[in-house]
Amino acid sequence: MVTAIYPGTFDPITLGHLDIIERASKIFDRLIVSVVMNVEKTPMLEINERVELIKKVVSANPKVEVDCSLELLADYAKQFENPVIIKGLRNSYDYEYETVMAAFNKKLNSQLETFFISASAKYIYLSSSAVRQLAMYGADLSEYVPKQVADALDQKLRNRR
Ligand code: COA
Repeated sequence: MVTAIYPGTFDPITLGHLDIIERASKIFDRLIVSVVMNVEKTPMLEINERVELIKKVVSANPKVEVDCSLELLADYAKQFENPVIIKGLRNSYDYEYETVMAAFNKKLNSQLETFFISASAKYIYLSSSAVRQLAMYGADLSEYVPKQVADALDQKLRNRR
């Protein structure tokens, strides 16, 4: 069995990520959505908060599991049966960045292939940082994230004030 790993910061998970998850889960038997560390980012939500939110919004899909890791992705993947990495591509910037990341991960773990799924047209502009900014201005997030995520961001920002 192939195990697909969809890694990301997911700060927070968006409808764009969920679109990739739904489509990947139709292709692969097992899909692990994994919250992993991007050393260049200082997330707003704690890692356990991001994991719990993802669990809530993927709970209806039996093929999807949620996990987290502080390891290099190339090492983390080794624990799974026939692992492959899934990444979404929104535009040419993602393509350039992700093809380099895929090559780097393959250098670190020669067995590890990366599969790209094109983002659906309606989500090509979407990013977690845009969602965080909108949340800070109290904007309506219903077109960008599930309600549980919008509520969690709202609560987080209220607690900060
Ligand atoms: N819909 C909506 N948003 C999307 C998206 C989609 N389909 N695809 C990507 N994005 C957004 C993400 O939310 C993120 O937004 P942000 O920058 O505003 O937070 C942005 O596009 C970039 O996404 P991505 O390239 O997947 O970055 P990431 O930070 O989410 O994930 C890791 C990068 C965590 C997978 C990568 O750093 C990693 O593998 N870390 C582990 C350590 C490691 O192995 N490092 C590599 C050593 S060479």
